[in-house]
Amino acid sequence: MSLKATSFALLTSVLTLSFLALAYAQTPATPQGPAPQAYRPGLGDLMTMTVQPRHIKLGLAGREKNWSFAAYELHELEESFERIVRVWPMYRKTNIAELMVATTKEPMEAVSQAIKSADAARFDEAYARLTATCNACHQSTERAFVVIQVPQTSPFPDQDFRPVKP
Ligand code: HEC
Repeated sequence: MSLKATSFALLTSVLTLSFLALAYAQTPATPQGPAPQAYRPGLGDLMTMTVQPRHIKLGLAGREKNWSFAAYELHELEESFERIVRVWPMYRKTNIAELMVATTKEPMEAVSQAIKSADAARFDEAYARLTATCNACHQSTERAFVVIQVPQTSPFPDQDFRPVKP
């Protein structure tokens, strides 16, 4: 091979390589298989993950007469209920959206009033009614064996439920 021919061969292979590199760089990343499905937690999961801990914390806050935290936690519980209704408007044959409002609205409002008036006795009464409502709904959805009660101890060792001293 003459020098000319060699350099031409070299030049073409360099060009081919750079084209290949360019083509490779421009190839969009191909997704692997179908797009992942959005996570839809089960109704029982949401009850255990969101409703149950908030119900407990609300009870403990009330017991400690920590009204500002109780107000916050009541709001969190309300939002948990709202998210459940969004994810599970219907559960089997039950209209959860309607049942949720029918069962929880009134006792939630009563708890809210008790917190606003910083009335411990009223809180205890309203909170007991809210707790009874959890069970009323469980009974009407064939989950009578899920029995909720007023918490006596805290399962949250890293959280202090007493009011913050000013
Ligand atoms: C509108 C109806 C409704 C209301 C109100 C309701 N629940 Fe539930 N709850 C259900 C249903 C239905 C299930 C069963 C879900 C399943 O089996 O997937 C359930 C399941 C649960 C579970 C899961 C049981 C377990 O141990 O795995 C817990 C805990 C729970 N609820 C707590 C509560 C608490 C606490 C309240 C009140 C603050 C409440 N629920 C209010 C309908 C309700």
